[in-house]
Amino acid sequence: MIYPIVMYGDAVLRKRASDIEKGTDLTQLIADMFETMHEANGIGLAAPQIGKSIRLFIVDGTSLEDEPTLKDFKKAFVNPQIIDEHGEEWGFEEGCLSIPNIREEVLRKKTVRIKYFDENWNAFEEEFDGMKARIIQHEYDHIEGKLFIDYLSPLKKRMLKGKLANISKGDVDTEYRIAAPLKK
Ligand code: NI
Repeated sequence: MIYPIVMYGDAVLRKRASDIEKGTDLTQLIADMFETMHEANGIGLAAPQIGKSIRLFIVDGTSLEDEPTLKDFKKAFVNPQIIDEHGEEWGFEEGCLSIPNIREEVLRKKTVRIKYFDENWNAFEEEFDGMKARIIQHEYDHIEGKLFIDYLSPLKKRMLKGKLANISKGDVDTEYRIAAPLKK
């Protein structure tokens, strides 16, 4: 099942998501999230972006030909917990399926150490760096109620105000189905 993607302005994107009860069967939900993300050509999707305030996100960078480091990077992160971020900050132009057609440079630390469960409730603690770390940091922000535009300067934010208001109204071009909070 393909979910509509929740647009900027919806309160669910600003809530800290709740832990999922251990042992919950997530098979269908995770399959649906992958289907939804692939339909939208995304490389990461967090549960709040389909309206569910739970601590779950998925990533799939395997189709990015210019990022060979991601060729096996397809995973679900359940109840993840970032333990540490370190290394030099580096900038990259990020985008977000919930904030279509806006890309801005965000600085993030190079390496992230994270504890999480996979879709079968196997526990992991791993370190990721570079683009993998960035995707994880962006998606993890989603379950903390944070968005990449929060990192921008006040000036940049002011410049985006009109575009963001339009996104909240659903007045934006996407090739995927959206759910906009202020759509009339
Ligand atoms: Ni995003």
